[in-house]
Formats: sequence, structure tokens, C-alpha cells
Amino acid sequence: MRVLVTGGSGFVGQRLCQQLVAQGHEVQVVSRSPHKVRECLPSGCDIRDSAQAFIESPPDALINLAGESIAAKRWSNEQKEKLVDSRVAATQQLVALCEQLNANGQPLPKVLVSASAMGYYGDQGKRVVTEETAPNDEFAHQLCKHWEAATQPIEAMGVRVAIVRIGLVLEAGGGSLQKMLPPFKLGLGGRFGSGEQFMPWIHRDDLVAAILFLIDQESLSGAFNGSAPHPVTNAIFTKTLAKQLNRPAIFPVPAFVLKAGLGEMSQLLLTGADMRPARLEAAGFTFQYPTLDKALAAIL
Ligand SMILES: NC(=O)c1ccc[n+]([C@@H]2O[C@H](COP(=O)([O-])OP(=O)(O)OC[C@H]3O[C@@H](n4cnc5c(N)ncnc54)[C@H](OP(=O)(O)O)[C@@H]3O)[C@@H](O)[C@H]2O)c1
Repeated sequence: MRVLVTGGSGFVGQRLCQQLVAQGHEVQVVSRSPHKVRECLPSGCDIRDSAQAFIESPPDALINLAGESIAAKRWSNEQKEKLVDSRVAATQQLVALCEQLNANGQPLPKVLVSASAMGYYGDQGKRVVTEETAPNDEFAHQLCKHWEAATQPIEAMGVRVAIVRIGLVLEAGGGSLQKMLPPFKLGLGGRFGSGEQFMPWIHRDDLVAAILFLIDQESLSGAFNGSAPHPVTNAIFTKTLAKQLNRPAIFPVPAFVLKAGLGEMSQLLLTGADMRPARLEAAGFTFQYPTLDKALAAIL
């Protein structure tokens, strides 16, 4: 199969592209800087600077991961616009590719798997959250709502669309864990605020497997929560990580410190949702790393 990936150079995308190549697929990557990212992708990946650059070799499947990093900078109004616009623009490139293919009478891809995030649900307190749960309207929800809605023109062309609302992706060498590990290794880790907020998480290999599962399963479409079946609170996450590292975690960071330091972005650390992968499990997907203990033991 020929698979086009936006954001293939990222933390999730790199592992996904390795898996796709290992399974014998032909991989096309859209990157803003094809030359720079070549060395982090498997040889044989065709890397170009726009989706439309692949018009002569139409993909069978699309995977949409690109977007400005959510935790890179404080959420100024300008940064919030960049977070939304980068994701909508990457998705619109896929819309433009499909429209062009349609206009040329070339075959359309069979499926689009498009990333979204747990932020879709916003702050949900202690409530169990499935794909059916109504969102809390806040910036994270608006971001994901616009991102997801940008896929609609592709669905309207008859392409199957699956959206993955991704939890915190865990693996060594990137993502949030890379930022958390140094203080925890020094014994300086601790919970954020009350620690009662939920942190849905997923091992990167399970996320990649779930994306490939959604590509394969022709009957599946709509939104899927992409997180492990056993989410934990921030306090439990902190304890589990400290235990795996054999270090204490006795330095909680008070909520007011995070709010003062990070502004609105502190919501990423202080609020959450007890998100469950109800639809993936109902579809028969099995997680290799269902519990945090198992995932962290493998990673660390
Ligand atoms: N990692 C997580 O814990 C997590 C959790 C929930 C949701 N997600 C979502 O899942 C997707 C993949 O996650 P990830 O961790 O692999 O992300 P990542 O490492 O930040 O990579 C995303 C890719 O998007 C491209 N990109 C970055 N800034 C961009 C911009 N301003 N405009 C257009 N493209 C840009 C980059 O590719 P080029 O430089 O090659 O263009 C980058 O490699 C992201 O959209 C993320 O929001 C991730």
C-alpha cells in the first residue's frame, strides 16, 4: 500500500514510518523541510514539501499528524492561532490533494486517519470519558474541534475518515516523558497541583499499532480515543514513574506556581479527562501496554 504521512518526522511519525516501511508499504512524507528530516526517517521514504507534490503517485491511505508543538511555547493569542492554523492548514493540504485527484479522475485514497487529542474533551474532572462524552468548551476543545472539522471535505468525497483523540504519548527519547525524566531521575519530581487530574496516556508502539489497525479495518470510522485502557491520575503517574526509577517524588509543584509560570497552558498539566478507548476496545484492538507499570517498565 502507498501511505502518505504528514508530520512523519515527529515523535509519533518517525516510529509510524519505521513500522510502515517494515511492513513493506511505500511511504510518502510531507515535511516543511524534506532535506533536514531525511536522516530521521527510514531510507526509501519519499519526502516532499507538500501533499500536492504527490499528485503523480496517489496514496492509498493518508495519515495526518502535523502541527505546531502544543507545549513548545506559552499560549499567547498568536501562539494559539499557530496551534490551530498549523493543524488546519496541514489537513487542508490533504483536502486539496483529494480535490485535485478527483478533478483529474485519479483514484482517491481509501482512508484518512487524522490525529486529534484528549484535549477535545477539555477538563472533565473525575467523570469517565468515552467517545460519547460531551466536551467542555475551552481552548483545547476549540483547537481539536477545528482540526477534526477540517477533515470533513475529505469525508464528503467518500473517503473513510477515522479520528484518533490521542492521550499523552510515552516512549523514551521524546514527548512529555523526555521533559519529565531529568527532575525525576534527580529525585526532584512531584505531582502537579492536587494530583487528582487524570492523565490519559498511551505507549507510542500501541498508538502506532492503533493507527495501522484503523487503516486496515474497513468498517471503522469516526472518532476513537487513542489512550490505554487504564488511565491514571497525575499523582499515580508521579508515584509510578518515581517507583520505576527508584527515586522519591516528594516535591509537588503547586497549581499557583504552574499558573504563574505557564499561564493558560498550565491547563495541560492541571486538568484532564479519565479518557477510555471504548471504541478501539469494542472493535477488538488489543493494547500491548494496557497498564502504566508495564509501559514504563518497558520504556525505562
Ligand atoms: N505526543 C503526544 O503526547 C501527543 C498527544 C496528543 C496529541 N498529539 C498530536 O499528535 C500529532 C503527532 O504528535 P508528535 O508528538 O509526533 O508531534 P511532533 O513530534 O511535535 O511532530 C509533529 C510534526 O508536525 C510538523 N510541524 C511542527 N510544527 C509545525 C507547524 N507550525 N506547521 C506545520 N507542521 C508543523 C513537524 O514536521 P516537519 O518539521 O517535518 O514539517 C513535526 O515533526 C501532533 O499533531 C500532536 O498534537 C500528540
